[in-house]
Amino acid sequence: MQVVSISSLKGGVGKTSVTLGLASAALDAGLRTLVVDLDPHADASTGLGINPAGREPIGLMLKNVRRSSINANAVPSSWTERHQKIVRSVQASQSDSKDDAAASDSEEADAGESKTAELAEGRLDVAYGSAFTGIYDRPDLRLRDLKRLKTVLSRVTGYDLVLIDCPPSLNGLTRMAWYASDKVLLVAETSLFSVAGTERTMRALNMFRREFAPSIQTAGVVANKYRPESGEHQFRLQEMSTMFGDALLSPVLPDIPDWQQIQGAAHAVHQWPTESARLSAVLLSELLEAVRNK
Ligand SMILES: Nc1ncnc2c1ncn2[C@@H]1O[C@H](COP(=O)(O)OP(=O)(O)O)[C@@H](O)[C@H]1O
Ligand SMILES: [Mg+2]
Repeated sequence: MQVVSISSLKGGVGKTSVTLGLASAALDAGLRTLVVDLDPHADASTGLGINPAGREPIGLMLKNVRRSSINANAVPSSWTERHQKIVRSVQASQSDSKDDAAASDSEEADAGESKTAELAEGRLDVAYGSAFTGIYDRPDLRLRDLKRLKTVLSRVTGYDLVLIDCPPSLNGLTRMAWYASDKVLLVAETSLFSVAGTERTMRALNMFRREFAPSIQTAGVVANKYRPESGEHQFRLQEMSTMFGDALLSPVLPDIPDWQQIQGAAHAVHQWPTESARLSAVLLSELLEAVRNK
């Protein structure tokens, strides 16, 4: 199980959108994924279309760290049901074409079946967020509190990937997420303030690594909402490339016209029917690969 935090000290750069985009890519690839919504605004939980009836939010699980269970309280995203439907319809059409081919090329059909069986395993759950989590977003969090999320996650089973959506600050919650993570992905816009903020976040991450968690890796920096026709965006992207070197990830995510509509409908970008969503989905799948393999 790989744990990845999605962070930036600035709000509005696209942490939640990148978290949701990676979650969509992971589901499309048949991974079993848990999103931990650590932002007290709980936007990721909203975007994942959940009904949390009877389950505890992540903040409460962090408070009752010794007896809480993420496995018992994770809420299924409505994206999973749609994913399963898509996989089932592919399976049905595969079995039709297998009948047609009358076992003449059965090896190929078998390979296709095992791939869809793997995809059918894919699911997406959320340890959902709420304002309660805010009690830990202090600048002076004690080491005991810093360890809470790592302790709760150490008991989790049955997931390939955990994505943690962080709040827009370097206070207690982001640090708690870093402490629990194998990798940290930083999100930046191609604008002056965001690039400067990302440089500060990178320095803070390096200090945190030295002091608390020598094994956490930087998954890299993803540039988001890029508009290639803007001279300013081109200049800032070049600046980021000089500043971050190999840590600047490829692909860069463009400004996606239907992004807000997709999020407003609580849909996965990989399940949205427009051409621009399809192109974005390809980029997000590439980004997931880059982050997982970094
Ligand atoms: N690549 C993108 N293209 C278009 N709009 C985007 C993109 N990324 C984020 N947005 C929009 O920008 C706003 C802020 O994004 P959000 O993910 O909430 O940022 P954060 O979590 O960092 O505060 C949202 O309205 C979101 O829909
Ligand atoms: Mg957010």
